[in-house]
Amino acid sequence: MSRILSGIQPTGSFHLGNLLGAIQNWVKLQDEHEAFYSIVDLHALTTRPDADELRASTHALAVAVLASGVDPDKAVLFVQSAVPEHSELAWVFQCLTQLGDLNRMTQFKDKSEQMQGNTNAGLFTYPVLQAADIAIYRATHVPVGEDQVQHLELTREIIRRFSHIYGELFPEPKVIISKAPRVMGLDGKSKMSKSKNNYIGVFEEPDAIRKKLRGAVTDPQRVRRDDPGRPEVCNVWSLHQFFTSEEKRAEIHEGCTKATMGCVDCKGILADGICRVTEPIRERAAALESDPDRVRDVLKEGQKKASAEAQKTMELVRERSGLWRG
Ligand code: TRP
Ligand code: SF4
Repeated sequence: MSRILSGIQPTGSFHLGNLLGAIQNWVKLQDEHEAFYSIVDLHALTTRPDADELRASTHALAVAVLASGVDPDKAVLFVQSAVPEHSELAWVFQCLTQLGDLNRMTQFKDKSEQMQGNTNAGLFTYPVLQAADIAIYRATHVPVGEDQVQHLELTREIIRRFSHIYGELFPEPKVIISKAPRVMGLDGKSKMSKSKNNYIGVFEEPDAIRKKLRGAVTDPQRVRRDDPGRPEVCNVWSLHQFFTSEEKRAEIHEGCTKATMGCVDCKGILADGICRVTEPIRERAAALESDPDRVRDVLKEGQKKASAEAQKTMELVRERSGLWRG
């Protein structure tokens, strides 16, 4: 059977981009594959978060993932740092990775610009740890967004190099690209993300969602209500595809292009759709929040299952690479 591994960073807010781009895909894939899902707190350390905040974000993300439908009876959900073999294998992989390869990573270039004054080595070797996350479970498939394809290419390259030097041990993982197109932020300029503060949080109250949407950028040519709009360049329209029925969307499209529907109404319909999807998630999350032991138990159980696999792999790596085995 195919085995998937995917990771998500605990960054402190769970927004529609995470839900549509990643987690809904996780929920679907847990029925089709053996699935390992990791909350990658080691990766989050590259941004040097406050300790209490990082722990709180890790817990909150576990709640969010479970509330969204990841089922611990189907998938292994665990925290990356709870399985130290990730870091151990990452070191071995670092010794197989060329500086030139890491220098080409566009995410490194972007992030080191964003995080001026903190271009730490962890940011640079980030994709090597990601490769280890995948290989330690000998995963065959990795569901990710478009922006991670380059990291997956590097993962495959590192695995090929390992095979060449030490003999084949890891499958070359295939990418499963998330079918949800990039979820744009409310600014209409870039992908929805916490750092750009252009997001709608899954756990936001309906009033807050409505308020944020009121400020969302639309077709800039539609200044007054009787100006016809262009849905294809409108950010709000791009969100409708996830939350609004086809029938209703046809109505909106016509209303926009013929200027018979205003942006305020259009945004109201979108808000209804978003609330319909997020409300049950919000309710399940509240139930989980009132039972913190439940979440901890799930993560501990996940740690146990993940560790068993990771230890097996690391034993083989030790044997192949000549590391001391006692
Ligand atoms: N780098 C990924 C991201 O930012 C997160 C991640 C870490 C990951 N390890 C992974 C994704 C392993 C897939 C597989 O989205
Ligand atoms: Fe965008 Fe809707 Fe306004 Fe048209 S009516 S410009 S789709 S917000």
